Amino acid sequence: MIRLMKYGAMMLLLSIAGTCLAQIEQQQQEDCEEKYRPIYHFTPNQGWMNDPNGMVYLNGNYHLFFQHNPDKPVWGPMHWGHATSKDLIHWDEKKIALYPDSLGTIFSGSALIDKHNTAGFGKGAMVAIFTHHNHQEEDRKTGLHQNQSLAYSLDEGTTWTKYKGNPVLPNPGIWDFRDPKVMWHELSHRWIMTLATKDCITFYSSKDLKSWKKESEFGKQVGAHGGVWECPDLIPMRYKGTTKWVLLVSINPGGPNGGSVTQYFVGDFDGHQFRTDDTKIKWLDWGPDNYAGVTWSNLEDRHLMIGWMSNWQYANEVPTTRWRSSSTIPRVLSLDKIGQSFYVASTVPKELENAFRPFKKYHSGGTKEVSFGQHLPQAYRLDLTDLKQQSFKVILSNDIGEELVIGYRQDKNEYYIDRAKSGEVSFNAEFPKTAFAQRLSANSTLSLQLYVDVSSVELFADGGLTAMTSLFFPKNPMTRIRIVGDKKLEFKELGISIFEIK
Ligand code: FRU
Repeated sequence: MIRLMKYGAMMLLLSIAGTCLAQIEQQQQEDCEEKYRPIYHFTPNQGWMNDPNGMVYLNGNYHLFFQHNPDKPVWGPMHWGHATSKDLIHWDEKKIALYPDSLGTIFSGSALIDKHNTAGFGKGAMVAIFTHHNHQEEDRKTGLHQNQSLAYSLDEGTTWTKYKGNPVLPNPGIWDFRDPKVMWHELSHRWIMTLATKDCITFYSSKDLKSWKKESEFGKQVGAHGGVWECPDLIPMRYKGTTKWVLLVSINPGGPNGGSVTQYFVGDFDGHQFRTDDTKIKWLDWGPDNYAGVTWSNLEDRHLMIGWMSNWQYANEVPTTRWRSSSTIPRVLSLDKIGQSFYVASTVPKELENAFRPFKKYHSGGTKEVSFGQHLPQAYRLDLTDLKQQSFKVILSNDIGEELVIGYRQDKNEYYIDRAKSGEVSFNAEFPKTAFAQRLSANSTLSLQLYVDVSSVELFADGGLTAMTSLFFPKNPMTRIRIVGDKKLEFKELGISIFEIK
């Protein structure tokens, strides 16, 4: 009897130990899965995310909807997830806004505030215009599987009703017919839809969001055509008292460093047609990981954009499991001119800049190498200001010798990001390749800001004229940083400072 009791107690102990071990393993796995989650970027709590969708500002809230597969951390049946933020740093994930229905899954699109109730859903309704993607129709290969539809919310994006007359813009027989971005065109008093249609952009107009008329096409003969055109945006921007129109077009593949990228055109739009004389190919961000970005609506003159921080080359394989993909940090877009050509500069919104406080202050250079010690936080900003033009590298590293190198080569006048030795890179052969970016500025000094957040770096050089975004997955945290010049680092006035997130 006593023996039996002893045996029972032993079995109980063993089973408790087993449960503990399993719990520890699960905890370790969860910690591991979470180790790449950024601090000041938006990520979905769980599941897959790609393009940002329907960004609209209302009553102090920045709404961010996004392509979402809530059940699996890989691309699948698309929903619109939803998050809001008051400061562009802290995001509050809400319940799913749009679910797939009998017309299809919910692909990318935009949202607006219908102030004058043009659609009849209610004054001030939040209206989403998105692509219904019908997978059965796609299998039938009719080419009619993508159609544009509406949904509306009368409670600031909390609950949504799909419009009964969907789709409002049926497919005329174009295989890739998607990602509507709709804006109010004040001069012609109509809504303008900018739509990606295979290898060009088609503009449509409407008085009520429900019936659409084709206006024109743009782009078959200009721009980069390495892949399909997606996620466009048409933005009126001011430059020294005049208005120019910027057309953003994401393409996949075909980027300067391979895979997904966003190009843009600067020209004029008269309510019917977009025209440009400047046929040079221009990239909004040269790095591998900024795709499908468009701007917030209902923000008057502020052109605030956010992108998906990944690349279709490897997005489904990056080494996170519970969640996959993050947004970029939001960026303010503005126009700049170099010679006769307009360029779009990307800078960081004030809200975000102010979210950092000085950590290691000011280093004035005078040496070939500057080291900022061993214990940096995992989320910080580095400012390097007015360095006399020369080649240099900023090297992020950790205690096991992994390195991420962000640099400038004077002989080629190029910035670059080399992540070949940055940790986990073997999940896809494209991932370790070095990305290059042309320096556009003619300034004699170099200035740049780096925003680092656990597993990503965003480079804004020369006032944002050249931007690069890159993911990296170090096995241990990258908490060391060195700046190394090919000769002594000399600064005109300021130098190098590091800021930590407050
Ligand atoms: C761009 C894109 C869009 C499409 C969505 C589907 O990344 O391919 O064109 O609407 O993703 O998730």
